[in-house]
Parts: sequence; C-alpha cells; structure tokens
Amino acid sequence: MTHSLSPTPFVALERVSKTFAQIKAAPRAQGGEPSDRPIAALDGFDLRVGEGEVVALLGPSGCGKSTALRMIAGLTEPTSGAVVWRDPAAAGDIGVVLQDPTLAPWSTVADNVRLPLRLKGLGRAASEPRVAEALTRVGLADRAGAYPGELSGGMRMRVSMARALVARPRLLLLDEPFGALDEITRFKLNDELLALRREHGWAVVFVTHSVFESVYLADRIVVMTPRPGRAAAEIAVSADEPRSSGFRMSPAYAALCRGVSQALEAATEAG
Ligand SMILES: Nc1ncnc2c1ncn2[C@@H]1O[C@H](COP(=O)(O)OP(=O)(O)OP(=O)(O)O)[C@@H](O)[C@H]1O
Ligand SMILES: [Mg+2]
Repeated sequence: MTHSLSPTPFVALERVSKTFAQIKAAPRAQGGEPSDRPIAALDGFDLRVGEGEVVALLGPSGCGKSTALRMIAGLTEPTSGAVVWRDPAAAGDIGVVLQDPTLAPWSTVADNVRLPLRLKGLGRAASEPRVAEALTRVGLADRAGAYPGELSGGMRMRVSMARALVARPRLLLLDEPFGALDEITRFKLNDELLALRREHGWAVVFVTHSVFESVYLADRIVVMTPRPGRAAAEIAVSADEPRSSGFRMSPAYAALCRGVSQALEAATEAG
C-alpha cells in the first residue's frame, strides 16, 4: 500500500459529493410537470482536519456547509466520495452543535447537558461536576434547573454547546454556534472555545458566516464556492500573537480579515 507524503489527517472528506432528491409539487396554475430534479449540495469537496486543528468552513448560504458537517458527524452519507478517519474509534468520539439546537424540552438544562455522559454510563454523582463545569464555560451555571422553553435562542445554543463539550470529545463540530449571540457573549465564548482547545487539544470544525470570527478562531479557513460546494481557497492563519483582544486590534488580524474577505468574494463570484 502506498502512502501520501502528507501525514494522515485526523478526519478527512475525500472528494465527497451529496445530491438530495427534491420532490416538489408542480405549481398547478402554471400547469408545470412535477420537478424531481436532484439538488447537488456538495460536488467533489475535499477537507482535511489535522489532530487538534481548528478549521473554519466559510461560504455563502446553501453551499453545503451544514451538509459537510453532518457528514463528518455520521448524520448523512455522501452520495460519492468518502469520510475517512485515521482512527475509526474517533468517529464515535465527537461533540456536535447543530444549526438548530435539538434539546429535550421536558428535561432541565442540566439533564440535557448530562445526556452524553449518561449514554457513556456515567452515574449522576460522577457527572454532576462535569455538567456544572460545562455550564459555567458557556455562562449558564445559574440556569441549570431551567427548561429549554424558558430560555432565549442564544441560551439554547449555549446549552447545546455545553452538551457537546461535556464528554470531552476528540472532535467538536459546531454549526454557527455563536450566530444568535450578542457580540460580548460571542467574544467570551470564542475565548472559552480557544481555552478548551488549548487544554484538551481538541480538533474543531466550525461553520461561520463571520470572516472576523473565522480569522480569530481558526488555524485554517476553507472558503467554499456557492452550491454545489467545493473548496475554493484555503487560508492558513498563523498569528504570532496569542488569540486575545490584542490580536483583534492588531494590523495582522485586519490584514488576514481583508484577505479572507477577498477570497470569499472571489469564490462567490466564480461560482
Ligand atoms: N435533507 C435535505 N433534503 C433536501 N435538500 C437538502 C437537505 N439538506 C440540505 N439540502 C439542500 O442542500 C443545499 C445545502 O444545504 P446546507 O444546509 O448544507 O447549506 P449551508 O451552507 O449550511 O447553508 P446556510 O449557511 O444557509 O446554513 C441547500 O440547497 C439545501 O436546500
Ligand atoms: Mg447551514
């Protein structure tokens, strides 16, 4: 067997394509035929995620970012191409925050966050401090006893985030986790994510619409074309400075943001 020169990534999407069947009722007034033309969400998309690497997916709405994330999570299968794990055991060791947070409405915030630990067979006493820590990380320690229906959208997203990180997975998959938050909370959670990553060495793949956020958080930014999504550009973010408020104010940060914006614009126009 031959090996490529580059080290095997932690997880990779290899030339994945995804086509969704589209069953659409014909607009009767126009006497149209029922259209079942399939929708190509991804077309030959490549993504490599290294051990402990933070990768941002950036691209226009509908370009297949969530589809790609769901594929890594094993929630949807590629139509062609493959999801390749270096260590197949890691495929089950992931924390996922989906674009629409799915919390059990009948369970408290703490019980929702506890779920992954329960599934791992951890008892209530052993999981309690872990749940408390995760809730503190996302700034919701005081809402442990609340029910999801009593929380704002941004708070529900943060509960979903706590649930994703409570089991200390090897890979975090985050689909626009900070989109619904005010800027101060968003910055705080950005820094928590960076701290967690430093502590645990987790790999992270996250979807964002924010050029600024992608540059602040990521080691590498993958810019995608409009649907069907492919990788249009990859930008490495190598900052000498630690990622902190100082980095946000630095000329290097501004220059990186400009470059990523231009790449996004070029990818969108080319698509
Ligand atoms: N389950 C599904 N069935 C049919 N079509 C789907 C399904 N999931 C996604 N699609 C289609 O695939 C395309 C890509 O969707 P996806 O949700 O991956 O985009 P996205 O890049 O995450 O967009 P956004 O930034 O708006 O969240 C869209 O055209 C969408 O309508
Ligand atoms: Mg999406």
